[in-house]
Amino acid sequence: MTRLGVNVDHVATIREARKTNEPDPVAAAILAELAGADGIVCHLREDRRHIKNRDLYLLKEVVKTHLNLEMAATEEMAKIAIKVAPDMATLVPEKRTEVTTEGGLDVVSNFEIIKDITEKLRASNIIVSYFIDAELEQVKASAKAGADYVELHTGPYANAPDSETELEEIEKISSMAIAASKLGLGVSAGHGLTYNNVREIALIEKIEELNIGHSIVSKAVLVGFEKAVRDMIDLIRP
Ligand code: PXP
Repeated sequence: MTRLGVNVDHVATIREARKTNEPDPVAAAILAELAGADGIVCHLREDRRHIKNRDLYLLKEVVKTHLNLEMAATEEMAKIAIKVAPDMATLVPEKRTEVTTEGGLDVVSNFEIIKDITEKLRASNIIVSYFIDAELEQVKASAKAGADYVELHTGPYANAPDSETELEEIEKISSMAIAASKLGLGVSAGHGLTYNNVREIALIEKIEELNIGHSIVSKAVLVGFEKAVRDMIDLIRP
Protein backbone atom coordinates (compact mmCIF):
# COMPACT_ATOMS: atom_id res chain seq x y z
CA MET A 1 0.00 0.00 0.00
CA THR A 2 1.50 3.31 -1.08
CA ARG A 3 1.95 5.75 1.80
CA LEU A 4 1.22 9.47 1.57
CA GLY A 5 3.54 12.08 3.03
CA VAL A 6 1.93 15.52 3.08
CA ASN A 7 4.28 18.45 2.59
CA VAL A 8 3.04 21.46 4.62
CA ASP A 9 5.54 24.04 3.29
CA HIS A 10 2.93 25.82 1.24
CA VAL A 11 0.76 26.49 4.27
CA ALA A 12 3.75 28.36 5.66
CA THR A 13 4.15 30.10 2.30
CA ILE A 14 0.64 31.57 2.67
CA ARG A 15 1.49 32.67 6.21
CA GLU A 16 4.70 34.31 5.04
CA ALA A 17 2.83 36.25 2.33
CA ARG A 18 1.68 38.43 5.24
CA LYS A 19 4.47 37.64 7.74
CA THR A 20 1.79 36.85 10.28
CA ASN A 21 0.94 33.75 12.34
CA GLU A 22 -1.74 32.17 10.17
CA PRO A 23 -2.35 29.71 8.63
CA ASP A 24 -0.21 27.49 10.81
CA PRO A 25 1.58 24.57 9.08
CA VAL A 26 1.49 22.75 12.41
CA ALA A 27 -2.34 22.85 12.43
CA ALA A 28 -2.30 21.60 8.83
CA ALA A 29 -0.08 18.70 9.85
CA ILE A 30 -2.52 17.71 12.60
CA LEU A 31 -5.44 17.82 10.15
CA ALA A 32 -3.48 15.83 7.56
CA GLU A 33 -2.80 13.11 10.10
CA LEU A 34 -6.45 13.06 11.20
CA ALA A 35 -7.40 12.60 7.54
CA GLY A 36 -5.11 9.55 7.28
CA ALA A 37 -1.76 10.87 6.03
CA ASP A 38 1.09 8.49 6.78
CA GLY A 39 3.62 11.22 7.33
CA ILE A 40 4.37 14.93 7.29
CA VAL A 41 7.11 16.53 5.22
CA CYS A 42 8.62 19.98 5.64
CA HIS A 43 11.61 21.71 4.09
CA LEU A 44 13.61 24.03 6.33
CA ARG A 45 15.31 26.13 3.68
CA GLU A 46 18.49 28.02 4.40
CA ASP A 47 16.68 31.33 3.81
CA ARG A 48 13.69 30.20 5.98
CA ARG A 49 11.35 31.50 3.33
CA HIS A 50 8.43 29.32 4.46
CA ILE A 51 9.08 26.79 7.24
CA LYS A 52 10.78 28.38 10.29
CA ASN A 53 12.76 26.70 13.06
CA ARG A 54 9.72 27.17 15.31
CA ASP A 55 7.55 25.14 12.90
CA LEU A 56 10.05 22.31 12.80
CA TYR A 57 10.32 22.11 16.59
CA LEU A 58 6.53 22.11 16.98
CA LEU A 59 6.08 19.54 14.19
CA LYS A 60 8.48 17.27 16.02
CA GLU A 61 6.25 17.61 19.11
CA VAL A 62 2.88 17.07 17.45
CA VAL A 63 3.47 14.71 14.50
CA LYS A 64 2.50 11.21 15.57
CA THR A 65 3.10 9.37 12.29
CA HIS A 66 6.41 10.12 10.59
CA LEU A 67 8.26 13.40 10.23
CA ASN A 68 10.44 13.84 7.16
CA LEU A 69 12.71 16.91 7.15
CA GLU A 70 13.92 18.03 3.74
CA MET A 71 17.24 19.82 4.09
CA ALA A 72 20.31 20.94 2.21
CA ALA A 73 23.43 18.84 2.78
CA THR A 74 25.13 21.44 4.99
CA GLU A 75 26.67 21.38 8.45
CA GLU A 76 24.16 23.97 9.72
CA MET A 77 21.22 21.83 8.68
CA ALA A 78 22.79 18.63 9.95
CA LYS A 79 23.17 20.23 13.41
CA ILE A 80 19.51 21.24 13.45
CA ALA A 81 18.39 17.81 12.23
CA ILE A 82 20.42 16.05 14.91
CA LYS A 83 18.95 18.34 17.58
CA VAL A 84 15.34 17.90 16.40
CA ALA A 85 15.66 14.21 15.47
CA PRO A 86 12.98 13.82 12.78
CA ASP A 87 12.23 10.23 11.74
CA MET A 88 13.77 10.88 8.32
CA ALA A 89 15.95 13.53 6.71
CA THR A 90 15.79 13.97 2.95
CA LEU A 91 18.82 15.66 1.42
CA VAL A 92 17.81 18.03 -1.36
CA PRO A 93 19.75 20.47 -3.53
CA GLU A 94 18.99 24.07 -2.72
CA LYS A 95 19.40 27.30 -4.64
CA ARG A 96 18.28 30.58 -3.13
CA THR A 97 16.81 31.88 -6.37
CA GLU A 98 14.64 28.85 -7.16
CA VAL A 99 10.86 28.94 -6.62
CA THR A 100 10.91 25.28 -5.58
CA THR A 101 13.44 22.45 -5.65
CA GLU A 102 14.46 22.31 -9.29
CA GLY A 103 16.47 19.16 -9.85
CA GLY A 104 17.66 16.13 -7.96
CA LEU A 105 20.66 16.03 -5.66
CA ASP A 106 23.87 15.39 -7.58
CA VAL A 107 25.23 12.59 -5.39
CA VAL A 108 27.94 11.70 -7.92
CA SER A 109 29.56 15.16 -7.90
CA ASN A 110 29.06 15.89 -4.20
CA PHE A 111 29.77 12.39 -2.97
CA GLU A 112 32.09 13.13 -0.01
CA ILE A 113 30.02 15.88 1.62
CA ILE A 114 26.82 13.87 1.18
CA LYS A 115 28.41 10.73 2.60
CA ASP A 116 29.76 12.69 5.56
CA ILE A 117 26.38 14.29 6.41
CA THR A 118 24.68 10.91 5.93
CA GLU A 119 26.99 9.26 8.45
CA LYS A 120 26.29 12.01 11.01
CA LEU A 121 22.52 11.74 10.57
CA ARG A 122 22.48 7.94 10.64
CA ALA A 123 24.61 7.96 13.80
CA SER A 124 21.70 9.89 15.38
CA ASN A 125 19.24 7.22 14.25
CA ILE A 126 17.73 9.39 11.53
CA ILE A 127 16.72 7.51 8.37
CA VAL A 128 18.40 9.24 5.42
CA SER A 129 16.84 9.72 2.02
CA TYR A 130 18.19 11.53 -1.07
CA PHE A 131 15.99 13.35 -3.54
CA ILE A 132 17.52 12.33 -6.88
CA ASP A 133 16.75 12.30 -10.57
CA ALA A 134 15.76 8.88 -11.92
CA GLU A 135 19.25 8.10 -13.25
CA LEU A 136 21.23 4.92 -12.67
CA GLU A 137 24.50 6.64 -11.73
CA GLN A 138 22.70 8.67 -9.04
CA VAL A 139 20.95 5.56 -7.68
CA LYS A 140 24.25 3.67 -7.48
CA ALA A 141 26.06 6.60 -5.84
CA SER A 142 23.21 6.91 -3.32
CA ALA A 143 23.62 3.31 -2.22
CA LYS A 144 27.39 3.79 -2.01
CA ALA A 145 27.09 6.98 0.07
CA GLY A 146 24.95 5.16 2.64
CA ALA A 147 21.39 6.35 1.93
CA ASP A 148 18.53 4.30 3.34
CA TYR A 149 16.04 5.63 0.79
CA VAL A 150 15.96 7.49 -2.49
CA GLU A 151 13.11 9.80 -3.41
CA LEU A 152 12.79 9.79 -7.20
CA HIS A 153 12.12 13.18 -8.75
CA THR A 154 8.77 13.08 -10.55
CA GLY A 155 9.03 16.67 -11.85
CA PRO A 156 10.09 15.65 -15.39
CA TYR A 157 7.08 13.29 -15.52
CA ALA A 158 4.70 15.95 -14.18
CA ASN A 159 6.00 18.52 -16.67
CA ALA A 160 6.18 16.20 -19.69
CA PRO A 161 5.02 18.13 -22.76
CA ASP A 162 3.28 15.16 -24.41
CA SER A 163 2.08 11.64 -23.62
CA GLU A 164 5.09 10.01 -25.29
CA THR A 165 7.54 11.84 -23.02
CA GLU A 166 5.26 11.10 -20.08
CA LEU A 167 5.48 7.35 -20.82
CA GLU A 168 9.26 7.58 -21.13
CA GLU A 169 9.46 9.30 -17.75
CA ILE A 170 7.21 6.67 -16.12
CA GLU A 171 9.46 3.96 -17.55
CA LYS A 172 12.57 5.73 -16.17
CA ILE A 173 11.03 6.13 -12.71
CA SER A 174 9.79 2.56 -12.69
CA SER A 175 13.13 1.03 -13.74
CA MET A 176 15.09 3.20 -11.30
CA ALA A 177 12.70 2.16 -8.52
CA ILE A 178 13.54 -1.47 -9.31
CA ALA A 179 17.29 -0.70 -9.50
CA ALA A 180 17.23 1.12 -6.16
CA SER A 181 15.27 -1.64 -4.53
CA LYS A 182 17.76 -4.24 -5.80
CA LEU A 183 20.54 -2.22 -4.16
CA GLY A 184 18.67 -2.44 -0.86
CA LEU A 185 17.28 1.09 -0.90
CA GLY A 186 13.74 2.05 0.06
CA VAL A 187 12.00 4.07 -2.65
CA SER A 188 9.70 7.06 -2.50
CA ALA A 189 8.82 9.65 -5.14
CA GLY A 190 7.54 13.17 -5.37
CA HIS A 191 7.45 16.64 -6.87
CA GLY A 192 4.78 18.05 -9.12
CA LEU A 193 2.30 15.26 -8.39
CA THR A 194 -1.37 16.28 -8.64
CA TYR A 195 -4.82 14.70 -8.40
CA ASN A 196 -4.66 14.28 -12.18
CA ASN A 197 -1.25 12.69 -12.62
CA VAL A 198 -0.63 10.75 -9.40
CA ARG A 199 -2.23 7.42 -10.27
CA GLU A 200 0.38 6.25 -12.77
CA ILE A 201 3.14 6.84 -10.23
CA ALA A 202 1.17 5.27 -7.37
CA LEU A 203 0.84 2.10 -9.46
CA ILE A 204 4.63 1.59 -9.63
CA GLU A 205 5.15 -1.37 -7.38
CA LYS A 206 8.47 -0.54 -5.76
CA ILE A 207 7.46 2.97 -4.76
CA GLU A 208 6.52 2.86 -1.10
CA GLU A 209 5.65 6.49 -0.48
CA LEU A 210 4.63 9.63 -2.33
CA ASN A 211 5.42 13.07 -0.97
CA ILE A 212 2.97 15.69 -2.15
CA GLY A 213 2.57 19.34 -1.21
CA HIS A 214 1.44 21.97 -3.65
CA SER A 215 -1.53 20.18 -5.16
CA ILE A 216 -2.94 19.15 -1.77
CA VAL A 217 -2.54 22.62 -0.24
CA SER A 218 -4.08 24.20 -3.36
CA LYS A 219 -7.16 22.00 -3.07
CA ALA A 220 -7.26 22.46 0.69
CA VAL A 221 -7.65 26.22 0.32
CA LEU A 222 -10.92 25.57 -1.51
CA VAL A 223 -12.38 22.44 0.08
CA GLY A 224 -10.57 22.05 3.41
CA PHE A 225 -7.42 20.23 4.44
CA GLU A 226 -8.96 16.96 5.55
CA LYS A 227 -10.99 16.50 2.36
CA ALA A 228 -7.98 17.37 0.21
CA VAL A 229 -5.84 14.76 1.99
CA ARG A 230 -8.59 12.09 1.88
CA ASP A 231 -9.15 12.64 -1.84
CA MET A 232 -5.43 12.13 -2.52
CA ILE A 233 -5.34 8.98 -0.34
CA ASP A 234 -8.29 7.59 -2.34
CA LEU A 235 -6.29 8.05 -5.54
CA ILE A 236 -3.05 6.47 -4.37
CA ARG A 237 -4.63 3.53 -2.55
CA PRO A 238 -7.11 2.11 -5.04
N1 PXP B 1 9.68 16.04 -2.52
C1 PXP B 1 10.67 16.97 -2.46
C2 PXP B 1 12.06 16.49 -2.21
C3 PXP B 1 10.40 18.34 -2.57
O1 PXP B 1 11.39 19.24 -2.49
C4 PXP B 1 9.06 18.75 -2.75
C5 PXP B 1 8.74 20.21 -2.82
O2 PXP B 1 8.97 20.80 -1.60
C6 PXP B 1 8.06 17.76 -2.80
C7 PXP B 1 8.40 16.41 -2.72
C8 PXP B 1 6.62 18.11 -3.00
O3 PXP B 1 6.46 18.68 -4.24
P1 PXP B 1 5.09 19.37 -4.64
O4 PXP B 1 4.90 20.53 -3.73
O5 PXP B 1 5.28 19.74 -6.06
O6 PXP B 1 4.02 18.32 -4.42
